[in-house]
Amino acid sequence: MHATICDYIADTVQNSIEAGASEIDLSLSENEDIIEVMIKDNGKGMDDATLAKVWDPFYTEEGKHEKRHIGMGLPMLRQVVENTDGEVSLESGKGSGTSLKFSFSAGHPDTPPLGDVATTVTSLINYAGECKLRFKHIRGSESYVITTDELESVLGNLHEVTNVTLVRDFLRAQESGMETGVTFATTALASTKKGTAAPEINSSKPPRSENGETYT
Ligand SMILES: Nc1ncnc2c1ncn2[C@@H]1O[C@H](COP(=O)(O)OP(=O)(O)O)[C@@H](O)[C@H]1O
Ligand SMILES: [Mg+2]
Repeated sequence: MHATICDYIADTVQNSIEAGASEIDLSLSENEDIIEVMIKDNGKGMDDATLAKVWDPFYTEEGKHEKRHIGMGLPMLRQVVENTDGEVSLESGKGSGTSLKFSFSAGHPDTPPLGDVATTVTSLINYAGECKLRFKHIRGSESYVITTDELESVLGNLHEVTNVTLVRDFLRAQESGMETGVTFATTALASTKKGTAAPEINSSKPPRSENGETYT
């Protein structure tokens, strides 16, 4: 199976979590020409010697993987990005976090499909544990932002099974909302917390979107 852009996002956000980040800022920005991903973390960062090695497929941090002794994540990402006329850049300093940016040319035939954004971000929220995640998705003139802080203030413990489902359905609603131009404030989730259904476009008691529009 071919990897999706979401697989690369999952892989690189996992690197940030593994680096001990307590805050991760993830953004996915799409337009006609380019699909760009930015990940900024406040994890332990890398010194220059480590930075020089990360693109080597035979390098992985000592002790990071108990049984595996190679780290394909970043080298594989770079290969795909370069094959599709995209760009990758990595900035890091020991103790000062890491910023990774990568892009794909939208029209290139070898650019991977986007994948399932809602499921990927939901899994990352769970994998992140105590780490705070902020996710922004921009597509053309539409966008939405979710943060684990806001979700937690509305739902409580995000690791409860019912909340995992609510978050995933909310993200799905945001994703399809970008197609129709109606995305929602996180507070819209409050009305579904006690019910079983996530916000739906045709719900009889519609939650309100950020600009006060109701679902129509
Ligand atoms: N966000 C990050 N913060 C700190 N170190 C990182 C980060 N991303 C990658 N690294 C370093 O780069 C190495 C290579 O990463 P990767 O190619 O994903 O392989 P792996 O994670 O399997 O080791 C990691 O072992 C780690 O030392
Ligand atoms: Mg990795």
